[in-house]
Amino acid sequence: MQYKKYFRKTSLKQQDQGNFFLNEIAKKKPKTFLEVGVFHGVTARNVCELLYQIHKNDFKYIGLDLFEVNEENTKEIISNIKFNNPFKTIYFKYIKKQNPYSKEAVEDLLNKFKDNVHLIKGNSNKILKKIDMSKVDYVFLDGSHDYNTVINDLNSCLDTINNNGTVLCDDYNLSYASGVKQAVDEFIKINKFNCNIICNSRFAKIEKN
Ligand SMILES: C[S@@+](CC[C@H](N)C(=O)[O-])C[C@H]1O[C@@H](n2cnc3c(N)ncnc32)[C@H](O)[C@@H]1O
Repeated sequence: MQYKKYFRKTSLKQQDQGNFFLNEIAKKKPKTFLEVGVFHGVTARNVCELLYQIHKNDFKYIGLDLFEVNEENTKEIISNIKFNNPFKTIYFKYIKKQNPYSKEAVEDLLNKFKDNVHLIKGNSNKILKKIDMSKVDYVFLDGSHDYNTVINDLNSCLDTINNNGTVLCDDYNLSYASGVKQAVDEFIKINKFNCNIICNSRFAKIEKN
């Protein structure tokens, strides 16, 4: 399957990286997928299309995001929310009349899969502790890039990994946000997990040995 952008922003900007990502998911065929950091929902929609191809309606996608910038979370959000392309700004403001970085707009993009999708607005530091992670087969960790939050998110994923699930961390080698690499390296060393650095060091794939 080809990764599509749906006229929105995504962290998987390069077509080959989007395709690489979908291929990784296809190899594992997860039935319950969790994305931390949904943003505009582009990866969410691609994952739902892929899981529908594999499992028909027998899959679940859980997406978690702050979905707003406020005084408490400015440190966590490193994505540029504004479009560079003025046509996209006009399209969302005057035609869709939506903020693409909102839970409502992402729900709209994922409406085709509404029975399979569960979106949560909140901070991963709090929300992940409330999810039964042993039931999640695959986590795409692409939320905060702050060391403390990433290590906290990874510790919340222990039950997923110990149940033979996979955690794929984005931006492992991001020069301007080294918190991801620091947290991943520490987490795999302490827990003795297997970690593959793939896609030109973009992703860290963590699994049980
Ligand atoms: C790089 S974007 C995610 C891109 C998306 N995964 C994609 O593929 O298009 C990072 C997202 O993480 C969210 N985020 C940052 N810190 C977070 C936190 N502590 N809890 C939940 N979401 C967070 C931001 O709001 C932002 O939308």
